[in-house]
Amino acid sequence: MTDLVSPSSGPGRGEPVVHQLLYRSRSRNGASSALQMSDILAEARPANQREGITGVLTVVNGTFIQLVEGTDAALDRLMERLLRDPRHSDLVVLERRSAPVRMFGDWDMVSPRLAVSDVALLDLLLDDPNAGMAAYARILIHAVATQDRVLEGRRNSADSPESSPVAPRITQPHRPGPGV
Ligand SMILES: Cc1cc2nc3c(=O)[nH]c(=O)nc-3n(C[C@H](O)[C@H](O)[C@H](O)COP(=O)(O)O)c2cc1C
Repeated sequence: MTDLVSPSSGPGRGEPVVHQLLYRSRSRNGASSALQMSDILAEARPANQREGITGVLTVVNGTFIQLVEGTDAALDRLMERLLRDPRHSDLVVLERRSAPVRMFGDWDMVSPRLAVSDVALLDLLLDDPNAGMAAYARILIHAVATQDRVLEGRRNSADSPESSPVAPRITQPHRPGPGV
């Protein structure tokens, strides 16, 4: 994903800039269910591709945690839709900021499989009212990178001639289109 470029006047002129937003919300109907998550992702991914939004979405003990990145306007439009969505409630924006680069630029919405330790760490963060984007992002980036390595390992063993049939890939990176 090509990063956005700030207006040609003012400070930081011509430097790439992306807007990032992290929120939490309560699932209304047992969102831990893989089925609901896959419905949400199937809806989110094409829309995010059109909007130039990238990010990560997970659910921990019935609490959604989503980090989204794109233009300010695209994030505002997404927030309007999210606030109307009956599948969750009590949406709280934990942090909104601008950054020089995307953290999840290869993903129009990734939902990594969380290790037990990731769940425990995210659970701790959800109890900490001061936890911000950096703390959540560290765990989420690690989870995505771990999943990528697992998938890479599966691909490599699929390539090897003596390998047995390999399980299908869990999630595939979706490169977002230009959008912005
Ligand atoms: C937890 C959660 C995360 C979502 N993430 C996205 C997303 O990243 N992008 C998106 O377009 N829609 C996302 N959706 C779906 C939107 O809330 C909304 O249903 C969808 O954009 C269609 O909106 P509309 O029917 O108002 O046009 C998410 C929904 C939930 C419950």
